[in-house]
Amino acid sequence: REGLSQVAKAAGKLYFGSATDNPTLTDEPYISILSDNHQFTQITPANSMKWETVEPQRGVFNFTGGDQIVAFAKKNGQIVRGHTCVWHSQLAPWVAAGNFDNSTLQQIVKDHTTAVVSHWKGQIYAWDVVNEIFNDDGTWRPSPFSDIIGPSFVELAFRTAHKADPNAKLYLNDYNIDGLGPKSTAVVNLVKSLKAAKAPIHGIGLQAHMISGSIPTDIKQNIEQFTKLGVEVAITELDIRITLPVTPEKLEQQKKDYAAVVAACNSVKGCIGVTVWDFTDKYSWIPSVFAGEGDALPWDKDLVRKPAYDGIVQGF
Ligand code: XIL
Repeated sequence: REGLSQVAKAAGKLYFGSATDNPTLTDEPYISILSDNHQFTQITPANSMKWETVEPQRGVFNFTGGDQIVAFAKKNGQIVRGHTCVWHSQLAPWVAAGNFDNSTLQQIVKDHTTAVVSHWKGQIYAWDVVNEIFNDDGTWRPSPFSDIIGPSFVELAFRTAHKADPNAKLYLNDYNIDGLGPKSTAVVNLVKSLKAAKAPIHGIGLQAHMISGSIPTDIKQNIEQFTKLGVEVAITELDIRITLPVTPEKLEQQKKDYAAVVAACNSVKGCIGVTVWDFTDKYSWIPSVFAGEGDALPWDKDLVRKPAYDGIVQGF
């Protein structure tokens, strides 16, 4: 029997993975698929390593949810992507309030990143050290970090993470950087400047939250411009949403879209793996955030494979 990670491995990729969330780890039929490392050789915690969860108050840490997912993955022979150290969203309110001067906030970024990355030292394949730092036009996204520290918070976070776990691959992760465009160009320029400063950056994560029927046509060229910088690339949060209600035609289009995205990664050696942002429509984040859209994942709400599943297989 051939699963997604087996197909990915045969194509020379390091893993095929899925995000998961702690509350779903009691759903037995779900677990029997998630734990199958013929399907998934990599797991990302969808929420439990985020700042609001891990450091809800300054210096007060809660690693329980992350520990649970790391233990689950270990038991099933799966590697883990850590998500995420420094992000403007799902940030603890005490940081989001932004009532700190520059040097205090730098210390807070250092303390948080050190605590989180060293807690799971040796157990994380790659960390999304920074997440969603640019606007779609390539300017810096407002956040306490960019507003108070300025762009140098990125280099600070990467250097701190590298000290805490020298073997973890350190990634910048963002959405709408799947194809060419101003946001992808901003990433290129930042990675060049980090590399020039000898900062430890090893990867670029394409979240790849996409819309069926509107997949960028230049994903491969974009991945190539990233790997030319001397970093690896991963597709870290893939889902391809459909305008509801779903029809057989829409599911066929979605299958083509999945095949196209996976094929783009597959055709570039430095694109090392693909992760779906959970694998079943039962637990997708899409309907709660994008009204009227959904059905974005390769298994349906009843844990039955959709045409998208075969699209992934075709793409490798
Ligand atoms: C999402 C989670 O899946 C949801 O459960 C949560 O309510 C909101 O965040 N980009 C990211 C992820 O980097 O962390 C987000 O995850 C989806 C968008």
